[in-house]
Amino acid sequence: MKVGFLGFGEVASILSEGLQKHGATVATCIEERSTKTKELAEKSGVKLYKTNIELAEVSDILISTVTPSQAIKVAQEVGKYVNGIYVDINNVSPKTVKKTLSFIENRKTVDAAIIGSIKKGLNVSVIASGDYAAQFAELNNYGMNINVIGDEIGQASAIKMLRSSFTKGISALLFETIYSAYKMGIDEEVLKYIAGTECEGFKDSAISRIISSSVHAKRRGEEMEEVIGLISEHMTPKMSSATEKFFKSLNEDIDNLENRPKNYKEVFKLIDKKEKK
Ligand SMILES: NC(=O)c1ccc[n+]([C@@H]2O[C@H](COP(=O)([O-])OP(=O)(O)OC[C@H]3O[C@@H](n4cnc5c(N)ncnc54)[C@H](OP(=O)(O)O)[C@@H]3O)[C@@H](O)[C@H]2O)c1
Repeated sequence: MKVGFLGFGEVASILSEGLQKHGATVATCIEERSTKTKELAEKSGVKLYKTNIELAEVSDILISTVTPSQAIKVAQEVGKYVNGIYVDINNVSPKTVKKTLSFIENRKTVDAAIIGSIKKGLNVSVIASGDYAAQFAELNNYGMNINVIGDEIGQASAIKMLRSSFTKGISALLFETIYSAYKMGIDEEVLKYIAGTECEGFKDSAISRIISSSVHAKRRGEEMEEVIGLISEHMTPKMSSATEKFFKSLNEDIDNLENRPKNYKEVFKLIDKKEKK
């Protein structure tokens, strides 16, 4: 099985490591990419092709793991040359994924979405829809955890987007609430009293949400643009627009985060430091 990755960032490097361990041949193209991407690909030992077009021609399964804003562009670039199955796993709306996959001339396309953190590794839950989703799920024989949820392009992305609307909205609300409590010196108490009416494990998950919001503020802000696109098809987005605004402003408040903060107070101190400047 030859698996190609368009783009080689966090998602591609983590999936590649597991797929190779399970016997798949993995390849990518790093021409004109950043130093970070080049280092990740070289370290992972995947096969390197000179162009994305060559990669598209040889891959049995070609997975697009670029960034939401680049999903259409790369599909346009390789669309004519894809011989196997083309999977878009970027966090994009159903509308964007339909447009993206319309460029794949052989029509062997799959809409896929990662549910949860890729840090879980190869076993992270992936949902997939479209006529070729079952073929993509053959990667379960190589350690992946893919569930086919329907035969229409757009279904997997819609689930992902609506889940995102909920989880990112909750994270933004939590951040704002606990930061205000911290400024008043009552953050521990507020967490304790919210936990009293929430489910078990709330406190740990709230803290983890605050920390990961700071680490991924930029990406989350961008991803909310796609969520808003989907919500706008059904109602005027108000909560999701606020969530987008929150993450974009958090990204400005916490610039240059070099290491993952060890606790939430460390995150809040970074904001205080920026405000003092
Ligand atoms: N990380 C997660 O936990 C997670 C979870 C679910 C879904 N996703 C989705 O999965 C996708 C990848 O995420 P990631 O975290 O791996 O992102 P990432 O670490 O930022 O990696 C993106 C990769 O795509 C490359 N790239 C950007 N534009 C490109 C182009 N036009 N042609 C070829 N390569 C291009 C980047 O190269 P440069 O370094 O040169 O820019 C980089 O190698 C995103 O759409 C994201 O929304 C991520």
